[in-house]
Amino acid sequence: MNKQATPREMQRAATTVGTHEGYMPGFGNDFETEALPGALPQGMNSPQKCEYGLYGEQLSGTAFTAPSHQNERTWCYRIRPSVKHSHRYERIDVPYWKSAPHVVEDVTSLGQYRWDPVPTTDEPLTWITGMRTMTTAGDVNTQVGMASHIYLVTESMVDDYFYSADSELLIVPQDGKLRFYTELGVIDLEPKEIAIIPRGLLYRVELLDGPARGFVCENYGQKFDLPGRGPIGANCMANRRDFKTPVAAYEDREEPSTVTVKWCGQFHVTKIGHSPLDVVAWHGNYAPVKYDLRTYCPVGAVLFDHPDPSIFTVLTAPSGVEGTANIDFVLFRERWMVAEDTFRPPWYHKNIMSELMGNIYGQYDAKPQGFVPGGMSLHNMMLPHGPDRNAFEGASNADLQAEKLDNTMSFMFETRFPQHLTAFAGKEAPLQDDYIDCWTSLEKKFDGTPGRK
Ligand SMILES: [Fe+2]
Repeated sequence: MNKQATPREMQRAATTVGTHEGYMPGFGNDFETEALPGALPQGMNSPQKCEYGLYGEQLSGTAFTAPSHQNERTWCYRIRPSVKHSHRYERIDVPYWKSAPHVVEDVTSLGQYRWDPVPTTDEPLTWITGMRTMTTAGDVNTQVGMASHIYLVTESMVDDYFYSADSELLIVPQDGKLRFYTELGVIDLEPKEIAIIPRGLLYRVELLDGPARGFVCENYGQKFDLPGRGPIGANCMANRRDFKTPVAAYEDREEPSTVTVKWCGQFHVTKIGHSPLDVVAWHGNYAPVKYDLRTYCPVGAVLFDHPDPSIFTVLTAPSGVEGTANIDFVLFRERWMVAEDTFRPPWYHKNIMSELMGNIYGQYDAKPQGFVPGGMSLHNMMLPHGPDRNAFEGASNADLQAEKLDNTMSFMFETRFPQHLTAFAGKEAPLQDDYIDCWTSLEKKFDGTPGRK
C-alpha cells in the first residue's frame, strides 16, 4: 500500500530551473555562499574565532552611512586578511590605460567620430596591458565620470592579480571568451553577455579559447543600478532574476605573485607570495555579476513615433542630479518595428549627454554601412547626428509593414559629461576620416511648395 504524503511534506524541485551552475540569480541581493561547509558564520559577522582559522573582513562598496537602500558591503571569510596581499608598492607605467581628466592638446574631441574595429594583434597583451582607452570624461579624483576602453587580450594572467580602486568596470565582450577569477567567485563571459566587476575587488583574467576583444566602461562614480521602470511596471527591460553572481570559490596557492592596483589613474604593483583569491565564504550585496543581454526585454512604440532611446536602458549609474545619469548603458537589440506613419530610425538630434556607441554584432538601423561589429562611434555633447542618407531615404519611403530588426546588437555608454579622445583614439585607432561625409548627400527638399513631402 502506498504511503500517502502528509500535507506537511512539500514537493521539492528536481532541477534548479533558471539557476546556472556556479551562479546565484538576482541583482543586488543579500547573497550568501560558502565553498567549505560551515565556513560562513551564521547570525553574526565577527565571531571571536572563525571556522577553519579563517579571517573575517568587510569590503565596503559604499560609505558606512549610505542610505540603507544604497548601502553595499560584503563580509569575506578568507585564508589571509587583505593586508597580507598588499606589500610595498612600486609605480609602473601602463601607457594605454588613461584616466580623466585627460585632455590631449593636439587631439580635438569636437567632431562626430567613428572607428573601424581595432585589429587584434599577436603582441602579448593581458587584461591590464591590453586595455586601450578611447575616451575619458569627468575626474577620477572626485569620483565622477567615466572612461571607455577597448580591450585586446592575447595572454592570460598567471599569478598576476589586479584591482581598480578608481572604478567599477562594465565589460561588454565582442569577440572571444574570458574567465574572471575574482575574490568572490568565477565568472565566465562571452559575447552577448556583460559583467560588472566592483571597485576594489581583486581578480585575474584568463582567456578560454584564443584572443578576446571587447569594450569596457570604467565608471568612476556611483554604482550601476537598474533604472526605474515608471509606468511600465514591475516587468520587462532588464529583470533582476537574469543577473548572475558567482558562488564562493578560492585558491590556496603559494606562488610568487603580483597585485597591480589602479589608484587615482596611476598603476602600482606589489609582490606577494601567494594567491590573494582566498575567500572561502562570503555574504553581502557587493559582488560581481554577469547578465545575458539576450534576456533584455525591449519595450517600444506600438502605434506611432520613436521614443527616446532611454527606453532601452539596461543599467544606469546616477549622478548627483536626479534623472541625469553619470552613465547609462543602453542596448539596441533585435525587436519588432510596427509604428504607423512614422520615421522609424533614430531621429536627428543634438544631446547634452555624450554618446559613445559600440557594435557587438550585426547591422545598426541608423547606419546600414560603416558601423560594423567591433567598431565604435562618438557623438559628443551638443554635436548633431542622425541617420545617414541611405537610412533616411530608405525609412522615409518604406512601405511600413511590421518589420523585425534582426541580427542587431549595439550599445551606448551615455554620460552627462563630454568625452575627450585619447591620443590612441585620435591617432592610432582606425578612425574613419570620411565619417562626417555620411550626411553630405542629404538633400534640401524644401522649396516652399505646399503639400510637398
Ligand atoms: Fe544620439
